[in-house]
Amino acid sequence: MLQEVYYPKKEMFKDPAFKNMCEYHELVEEFEKDYEGTWAKFAREKITWFEDFKQTLDTSNAPFYKWFVGGKLNVAYQCIDRHLENRKNKAAIIWEGDNGEKRIITYLELYREVNRFANLLKSLGVKKGDRVVIYMPMIPEAAFAMLACARIGAIHSVVFGGFSAEALKDRILDAEAKVVITADGAFRKGSPYMLKPTVDIALEGVDIVEKVIVVERNNEDIEWVSGRDISYNDLIVNQSDECPAEIMDSEDPLFLLYTSGSTGKPKGVQHAQAGYILWAQLTMEWVFDIKDNDTYWCTADIGWITGHTYIVYGPLAAGATTLMFEGVLTYPDSGRAWKMVEEYKVNQFYTAPTAIRLLNKMGPDEPKKYDLSSLRILGTVGEPIDPPAWKWYYEVVGGGRCSIVDTWWQTETGGHMITPLPAATPVKPASATFPLPGIFAEIIDETGERMPAHEKGLLCITKPWPSMIRTIWGDPERFVKSYFSTAKKMGEPVYFSGDGAMYDEDGYIWITGRVDDVINVSGHRLGTAEIEAAIKKHPLIAEVAVVGRPDEIKGESVFAYVVLKGEDTVAEEMEIIKEINEIVKEEIGAIAKVDTVAFVPGLPKTRSGKIMRRILRAIAKGEAITQDTSTLEDPKVVEAIIEVVNSCI
Ligand code: PRX
Repeated sequence: MLQEVYYPKKEMFKDPAFKNMCEYHELVEEFEKDYEGTWAKFAREKITWFEDFKQTLDTSNAPFYKWFVGGKLNVAYQCIDRHLENRKNKAAIIWEGDNGEKRIITYLELYREVNRFANLLKSLGVKKGDRVVIYMPMIPEAAFAMLACARIGAIHSVVFGGFSAEALKDRILDAEAKVVITADGAFRKGSPYMLKPTVDIALEGVDIVEKVIVVERNNEDIEWVSGRDISYNDLIVNQSDECPAEIMDSEDPLFLLYTSGSTGKPKGVQHAQAGYILWAQLTMEWVFDIKDNDTYWCTADIGWITGHTYIVYGPLAAGATTLMFEGVLTYPDSGRAWKMVEEYKVNQFYTAPTAIRLLNKMGPDEPKKYDLSSLRILGTVGEPIDPPAWKWYYEVVGGGRCSIVDTWWQTETGGHMITPLPAATPVKPASATFPLPGIFAEIIDETGERMPAHEKGLLCITKPWPSMIRTIWGDPERFVKSYFSTAKKMGEPVYFSGDGAMYDEDGYIWITGRVDDVINVSGHRLGTAEIEAAIKKHPLIAEVAVVGRPDEIKGESVFAYVVLKGEDTVAEEMEIIKEINEIVKEEIGAIAKVDTVAFVPGLPKTRSGKIMRRILRAIAKGEAITQDTSTLEDPKVVEAIIEVVNSCI
């Protein structure tokens, strides 16, 4: 098949990190020749160390790798203090509220805000190594809170504001958090919504949390639990705006971020200080070509890794201006995003394919109404982008001038892994193209053999990298099992991402999606096991299997096969669907909404009782069944399921 190739418009880039593919290959080779030396060179060049590191990479306890061993630094210092000399009056964060309200926070103001917050945390007894859960809307105080934790060495765990009380509670308990930082609520689509009541429910029966700090954002009425809840707005004014940055070791944990796996409960992905911040900063320079006068906008929520690395840590470490938005891209109309790009003269715009598809659907010509000439780079992340969405993004939003960087990475990788370089890489729409220099991403089989072109294999990272996950909080065995037990290269276990991928004849990488029981709904990663566990709580349900189903806007939607305990009527089924979604909303949150429920007579099982999920996935996708069904306990059940599914489409 002849594929279109799009070349970067060189005139869009003044002094990019990589001007062409030769420069890319040169650095790739440098890493190949001297892996540790090249990483050490970047670490010394980019990080302001309090004390130099003694060893670049310690592999003695693999896969628990250690980077920049013995180095001392502080991530908040790297993101703020070191910029004060040259950029104290530069906007660090430009914030826009749902209703258009604006706030510009300079680096000097950020320094003071973060120090005050850090002192507030200290006054509550928070110390280095303590865990702090942040359950916040998209307001600047959320970024202050993260950086304040980093400043005093506390480990933050941000929980996405759309998660339910139950999901929040699980994360608080798993991390053994001492303090929760939240807000009364915030605004969405012109109306207030609440967060604090969810925290109150989550903390029922939980005695490890000593204090709840409440930022008053929407000033709606909330309950105040005396002795536990404190008002940020009241107490912050009395805090000193000087707070020394704690001296941290390179490998001290920086944060935890819970993400879904294919089995069991969400995993607390643990990131370390130095390696994470190095890669966050470097990728801002390499992939977003961030320059001093740029305004950079990532539309993610800080509750996800994209918000961590590419709203807060990466841009600030790079001394950039990061735009933070409380609202919804399509409110009050589908021109909101483009209006903001015009207003702030945004140079880099980074969003998810779901948002691109939605903006395209709701307002295909809307971008043409605004001056988007400031844009230089358009990014996508979180899920595969389809060629039609890519082309609309390229032609209509980018005016055929901008480079699109389709960035593949994960919560566990900390930052970008496979992506075009904006001024160098010839791009094929919907391919993430090539691994970044220093990243040994390869498509292999279980034994480490490189897959031939056009054959699907396992997407693995075959050498450790600085911003990699260090462990799963409190569960090192699960860390090894989840990531280092599927594939080996030269006999050594390598990191397996959970994604399948393919090379094409030119070596371009095409991500084909998860090969495990994780689904990707609107770029949000959900474990089917978690959704099943929630649905099973319904008293009338005997068995359930959840799979993903292709969705025009969301990429994938949640599809549940349900076996009831007894007979039912259509009216009862309608009621059960409603109840299923109530339970899912309570246990996980509205993001895991079940879009389709198929009431089936049974599930396809092997004679040993294992559910054949591949068959269920194929049926939900409307694909032909290629598996041998004769080994099933009851082969006829497959036909019955297909009949039900056909009738509910
Ligand atoms: O399946 C891949 C998909 O998102 C997963 C990681 O999800 P999460 O940890 O929530 O992080 C999302 C933001 C980095 C991956 O395993 N994914 C991410 N980026 C892409 C992608 N799939 C295709 N193309 C991408 N650019």
